[in-house]
Amino acid sequence: MNEILGTNRARAAVRLRSLEAQVAISAAMDGASALLHFFRKDVEIQIKGTANFVSTADLAAETAIVERIRLDFPHHAIISEETHSDRADAEHLWIIDPLDGTSNYLHGMPHFAVSIGYYRNGVGEVGVVCDPAHGDWYVAARDQGAWRNGEPMRVSSATQLSEGMIACGFYYDRGLMMESTLATIADLFRCNIHGIRRCGAAALDLAYVASGWFDGFFEYRLSPWDYAAGQVLLVEAGGAISDCAGAELPLGRPSSVCASNGTLHQPMLQQIEPHWKRFAVST
Ligand code: IPD
Ligand code: CA
Ligand code: CA
Repeated sequence: MNEILGTNRARAAVRLRSLEAQVAISAAMDGASALLHFFRKDVEIQIKGTANFVSTADLAAETAIVERIRLDFPHHAIISEETHSDRADAEHLWIIDPLDGTSNYLHGMPHFAVSIGYYRNGVGEVGVVCDPAHGDWYVAARDQGAWRNGEPMRVSSATQLSEGMIACGFYYDRGLMMESTLATIADLFRCNIHGIRRCGAAALDLAYVASGWFDGFFEYRLSPWDYAAGQVLLVEAGGAISDCAGAELPLGRPSSVCASNGTLHQPMLQQIEPHWKRFAVST
């Protein structure tokens, strides 16, 4: 497993020019190694909320990632899921999810990721999503392109929802937000989509839209560390990403997310916004 991870890391790294991009890849590698070290072992778990956990693995990966970034950029701001909450309007900002797909990981399911985004003055410069279990690297740099394991990555060419495979996610909520998500799925099926997938790692969902494997994705509440890297991948792969009302995603607070190949963005919003409004208005 580690050998493929290393080989594909080298393929990804040759595509990226800036020091920030190289550091993002090194940091993701350190995080990925920590995750693989603890995978399918008895890790200590703390409960953050309903079905929301943090484990020794999340914390070890986050420490490794932050230490690697600090080596080259000791003064850059960091927002990370478990430990850092610097200002989102900092000139140099790193946004990190050390383990996206914690539930999969803790159940021994090999679908989880390290997600690292680097933003300069609010603009996404570098996105790195690493899938350690499969050894896959999804990377992008602003105005340079997006690659999976060093090969150019492009969104799908679907023109109608009836040609689409759509992914979604459920936040930890078990009330109206969950009901709204289920109602949206029903409406999407009425548009004759090919299918719905709920894979459990938002950063990989976004990477899959950028790869053209999914045609769209939505979730009614995600955090910046879930989408910071994926947003850069999406933009560079020719797709679109916004909140569920079509507005730009914030870096300093949670948001709803709609991602697509671009052509399907309005059709997606038409289905997911009404249910999002129902939920948003009541909170
Ligand atoms: C979660 C995953 C999941 C999404 C949740 C996220 P975590 O992140 O991305 O797919 O549905 O909303 O919180 O907790 O595994 O880092
Ligand atoms: Ca996450
Ligand atoms: Ca996480």
